[in-house]
Amino acid sequence: MAVKTPTKVTIRLMREEDIDGVLAIDRKLRGPKRAISFSDPVTDYVGGQVGISYVARAQDQVVGVIMGRILTLFPSGAKGAAIEVLGVDPDWQGHGIGVKLVKAFEEQCRKKGAARMNVWVMPRDTALKPFFDGMGFEASKFVQLEKELKP
Ligand SMILES: CC(C)(COP(=O)(O)OP(=O)(O)OC[C@H]1O[C@@H](n2cnc3c(N)ncnc32)[C@H](O)[C@@H]1OP(=O)(O)O)[C@@H](O)C(=O)NCCC(=O)NCCS
Repeated sequence: MAVKTPTKVTIRLMREEDIDGVLAIDRKLRGPKRAISFSDPVTDYVGGQVGISYVARAQDQVVGVIMGRILTLFPSGAKGAAIEVLGVDPDWQGHGIGVKLVKAFEEQCRKKGAARMNVWVMPRDTALKPFFDGMGFEASKFVQLEKELKP
């Protein structure tokens, strides 16, 4: 895989015209390198909010994306932010684009009054867990409970 040097990478709020580029990144991330924690934006509903979701652009194409939303946290009623999708084109990984996207999202969430950011990541997700650990994310005090429904 040819790794490109991102000489000029622009991070800006996502626009409608970016959607094809975002889906193209998702297609390139198929296979073992894909995060197992995120929904598939092609088959599942992932609706990053306009005004909070960002793309990274280089050489006139989308090379990275972060989508998320602001929500009301229970039980405090305070505002929080959820990251729903994060992906960097494999050809552009390892050049700080992922960090820039998360920082842009974080700054915007802060401006919109969010008190914290959350992301659902499976502990065995080697594509994402070490990255978010490095960004200062810690295990939340909420635990997801589940019960298998036998037929
Ligand atoms: C996780 C991801 C966003 C990181 O993007 P990136 O631009 O390559 O990350 P950065 O260059 O900003 O790396 C920041 C740090 O995280 C580390 N890092 C990134 N991915 C890592 C991984 N999988 N394991 C260990 N460390 C990782 C880097 O080494 C770097 O550390 P350093 O600053 O000490 O050198 C990218 O690997 C990715 O897109 N993964 C697949 C996600 C996916 O499948 N999404 C769903 C489809 S859209």
